Amino acid sequence: MRKPDDRLSVGQVDEQIPDPWPLRHLELRTPRLSLRPDDDEGLRELAVVGARGVHPPEEMPFSIPWTDQPVDELVRGTVQHFWSLRAAIKPESWTVNFLIRREGRVMGIQSVTGADFAVTREVSTGSWLGREYQGQGFGTEMRTAVLLLAFDYLGALTARSAAFTDNPTSLAISRKLGYRADGCSIHARRGARATEIRLLLTSEQLVRPQWTLDVAGLDGCRAQLRAG
Ligand SMILES: CC(C)(COP(=O)(O)OP(=O)(O)OC[C@H]1O[C@@H](n2cnc3c(N)ncnc32)[C@H](O)[C@@H]1OP(=O)(O)O)[C@@H](O)C(=O)NCCC(=O)NCCS
Repeated sequence: MRKPDDRLSVGQVDEQIPDPWPLRHLELRTPRLSLRPDDDEGLRELAVVGARGVHPPEEMPFSIPWTDQPVDELVRGTVQHFWSLRAAIKPESWTVNFLIRREGRVMGIQSVTGADFAVTREVSTGSWLGREYQGQGFGTEMRTAVLLLAFDYLGALTARSAAFTDNPTSLAISRKLGYRADGCSIHARRGARATEIRLLLTSEQLVRPQWTLDVAGLDGCRAQLRAG
């Protein structure tokens, strides 16, 4: 409970004021990509990328079929979805949504979620790229980046992913990076039964890339993520 004399005083030096959003300083760099937690300008760009198409219309890689919405709802819904996750970040429960940029242009998103991370030491991930950016190895590169962040910088022990049985691309990336099948879950997808394969990766099983990850601005984020 805060005491009345705990209040910040007018003119108090900036360094004594806690930073409510230290994640704005975080950046991961791979050979081709920059990954930064979402910002409003980038989310607007991401929503436009999403509206241009993420998958063929006859496919549905997502358990919540957000890409089935009309364009104006999809654009607003995309931005509001990521705002809601950003607004809900707290040490016991967080999702960091990294905007994926190449040469300054937003191409997609890579999410990392931790629940009671200080105890579980487990993350789960999810991602998508605009269709025009797929099939060039970016999906592998961005997933690898957040796995290296989780295992090597945050102290994660395990990472989870999941993909429908008819999503060979996502499953291929998981296989390539060393994940093992860990059961399945059943969904009602567009009104039909669909099976999602759960995947589990330990830090030892990760198939490491040839490149090294550059990480900047992480120290100020550790308390917010309860990371070691
Ligand atoms: C999933 C996604 C992020 C992957 O990104 P990407 O840049 O297209 O993937 P990459 O190019 O890095 O790798 C794709 C791998 O899948 C493999 N692949 C693609 N189609 C395949 C098929 N039909 N069967 C087997 N492997 C296949 C490719 O050969 C490649 O592996 P390789 O590098 O060993 O050759 C992207 O395709 C996407 O956004 N898809 C739509 C949304 C989605 O499915 N999100 C994930 C939900 S779980």
